[in-house]
Amino acid sequence: MAPSSATLNPPKSPEVINQSTPQYWDGMVADFDSIYTGESKSTLDVLLDRWLRKDIYDRVVATVEGVSALGTNQLVLDVGVGTGRLCIPLGKAGHRIVGVDFSPQMLEKAQANTTQAGVVGQCQFFQADLLTSMPETVKQQGSYAAAAILGVLDYIEDPSPMFANLKNLGLKRVYASFPRAGTLRCELRKLRYKVQGLDCPLYFFTPEQVDQYGYQVMGAQKVTQQLMGELHFAVYEF
Ligand SMILES: C[S@@+](CC[C@H](N)C(=O)[O-])C[C@H]1O[C@@H](n2cnc3c(N)ncnc32)[C@H](O)[C@@H]1O
Repeated sequence: MAPSSATLNPPKSPEVINQSTPQYWDGMVADFDSIYTGESKSTLDVLLDRWLRKDIYDRVVATVEGVSALGTNQLVLDVGVGTGRLCIPLGKAGHRIVGVDFSPQMLEKAQANTTQAGVVGQCQFFQADLLTSMPETVKQQGSYAAAAILGVLDYIEDPSPMFANLKNLGLKRVYASFPRAGTLRCELRKLRYKVQGLDCPLYFFTPEQVDQYGYQVMGAQKVTQQLMGELHFAVYEF
């Protein structure tokens, strides 16, 4: 898509931007990881996940393919690493991963999952809120080729500061998934969160916003968007 001349809302300070909490995610580790493993799920639920949440698996595959196309042994920043499910195929493909998350329990599970998969030696994990700042320890881990932000922006009212925090890492690519605004499934998802009483805000994005985080916030040279199920899957090139 060509750069849009429309502007984003005026920037807010990260501290006042509404987003989910580490405590919420600490309590979601088993539920979230079971989307990948099927653990403790009925066969019907597993089949429903494979159908309705296919985009969750597809975005992992697209990111690993994109990073591998940059070369071997690439250093990848996994923003909101969760239970480490992207680290495993990246590690198996020979890349190194710095996984950052603000939830201690998610990080513990990422450590366990990557250990079990035999790729923990290629991973480093750090606890931080990447909306607020990019810690020096994360910056100093090496020369990053790419960053991935998968399944994270759904829960952030305005992710501009998170994208701005990636600006000085020398990245060649950023891969990001955004839940699409205006779909029926977006309304159903909001309803499901309400009915289940999930204490977590939800946000949806337009293609124009997806472009603007690249061109206006990060200074990308090129933004490619792909419709992937209920998502916009974006590749930002620098
Ligand atoms: C739905 S999970 C996605 C995990 C992983 N990226 C994946 O696709 O499997 C969202 C993760 O983002 C983390 N997260 C959300 N906001 C964050 C922030 N501001 N800084 C760091 N981590 C954050 C949560 O703790 C959670 O682990």
